[in-house]
Amino acid sequence: MSKRSQRGISNVEYVQAEEDLFRHYKDNKIFPDELLEQMNLFATAQHKRRELFLYEIYKLLIDKPGAIAQFGVRWGREIALFEMYRTIFEPFNHSRIIYGFDTFSGYPTVSKTEQNELLKMGGLGLSKGYFDYLLEVLRTREKLNPLPQVEKFELIRGKVEDTLPKFLNDKQHQLFVLVHLDLNLGNATRFVLKHIKKHLFKGSIIVVDETCHPKMAGETLAVLEEFSGHKIALKRFPSINTTWQSYFIVE
Ligand SMILES: C[S@@+](CC[C@H](N)C(=O)[O-])C[C@H]1O[C@@H](n2cnc3c(N)ncnc32)[C@H](O)[C@@H]1O
Repeated sequence: MSKRSQRGISNVEYVQAEEDLFRHYKDNKIFPDELLEQMNLFATAQHKRRELFLYEIYKLLIDKPGAIAQFGVRWGREIALFEMYRTIFEPFNHSRIIYGFDTFSGYPTVSKTEQNELLKMGGLGLSKGYFDYLLEVLRTREKLNPLPQVEKFELIRGKVEDTLPKFLNDKQHQLFVLVHLDLNLGNATRFVLKHIKKHLFKGSIIVVDETCHPKMAGETLAVLEEFSGHKIALKRFPSINTTWQSYFIVE
């Protein structure tokens, strides 16, 4: 099943246009040393809305202490994005560490009740050697930023159920200003929230990537259970919000 039909997009012309854009990218005639600056030619509003959403989120966290934790990194576009926002808005804040948690090999387990065409064991896998490649890319990016001598990100590879308890035990001082939930799975999200709660403070921001998603209901249910539902004020950003993303501020 193609990525597009997985997302339920069936409009033939739209799918064709997406494919054409990808072809234009592959066949691009831009001088290689100018290509990175011209990437907006191939990005669409769908891509950019995600970035704008996180830009609005970043503005909310800037006057607060604490690190950023993303649960569900995949290829790493948002780890790079958080790093860009940090460099733009608070270039010398090396306490704003960005942590990325992922197996870096796709869904490790999907409970029977959650399995469907979007959620399958091993779904969202990565290409061979990608973890090391991503590390290298992020380290290179850091060299372009202020305080390159301080490593201000960490990728934590493995099932969060295995990695998070030790990580938090080793870093009992670490508070999180932002927890980005994008594992798509109920049990893993519930596990993260149960453990990370004591590292949150009044004002921490939680992003829920799949709010009310009928095929990824577990993420919403886990949030409601762990934050006794009716007490959280879930919000979105009118006009720029992507379909399913929302956030709330811990009280
Ligand atoms: C939707 S993707 C993340 C996408 C990323 N935030 C982005 O926008 O590009 C979900 C990720 O969660 C990871 N994941 C799911 N369950 C996990 C678990 N129990 N432990 C660690 N990673 C998990 C998968 O490997 C996958 O890369």
